[in-house]
Amino acid sequence: MRIRVQHFKEMKKSGKRITAVTAYDYSMARLVDKVGIPMILVGDSLGNTMLGYKSTVRVTMPDMLHHTKAVVRGAKNSMVVTDLPFMSYQVSIDDALRNAGRMVQEGGAHAVKLEGGARSAETAKRIVEAGIPVVGHIGLTPQSEHAFGGFRVQGKDLASAHALLDDAVALENAGVFAIVLEAIPVELARVITDRLDIPTIGIGAGPDCDGEIQVINDILGLTLNSRKHTKEYASLSQVIEEALVAYLNDVEQSKFPSDDQSFHVDERLLADLLSKI
Ligand code: KIV
Repeated sequence: MRIRVQHFKEMKKSGKRITAVTAYDYSMARLVDKVGIPMILVGDSLGNTMLGYKSTVRVTMPDMLHHTKAVVRGAKNSMVVTDLPFMSYQVSIDDALRNAGRMVQEGGAHAVKLEGGARSAETAKRIVEAGIPVVGHIGLTPQSEHAFGGFRVQGKDLASAHALLDDAVALENAGVFAIVLEAIPVELARVITDRLDIPTIGIGAGPDCDGEIQVINDILGLTLNSRKHTKEYASLSQVIEEALVAYLNDVEQSKFPSDDQSFHVDERLLADLLSKI
């Protein structure tokens, strides 16, 4: 059964915690979906994890559409939320509507996420009014990394804490169905979570949000320099390296492929073939 917006509202009400994780391709999406994680985010973090950029600001609409289509093909039940990339929604509301529409119509996404609080509220409202569910994202919003001057925890002083609370309320009033809180103090995340009727999904925002989202490469141990807010549940880099070294050695030492991985033709056919050479 496809997870829908309503499920997340019910989860907040019943106190069932929401798990979300990013995925960028069909194979990972299938696994995330298989274990029953209700929300997959096609994050623009794919700029870092998949495309090797230093920042998400390089990610484009075609990049996002390409990966969204692959994830959607792998997700039978999970809701697929996709990021609106940098400058796809900031220039005008018309642009935002057109690009959110493309994510749903061409990409097959079930919802979009955009960054920014009060400044993005009107845009979010118009996308919701067009019938597209929206997730908000406040705190450390990576598309504004140049404005923030790097990875810095947000909302640590009274004024910025107040501003973040106002941002969250503005997004809720705009009709978003969930808000990602990134890199803010535990105490502020708790205040925002208690204040809202819609769920908060934290990343570097402590244990009191209604749910948690992580970048899949971080939790699987595929990231070189992982940050404090993440936890490795597997060391896939090591597993993959070991497998590749074993493969390299087997090929070089003629141990792979063996007869087990080979195909044969009928001996008469071979004799016929050789007689004609
Ligand atoms: O792009 C992304 O992966 C995100 C998460 C960090 C929430 O926006």
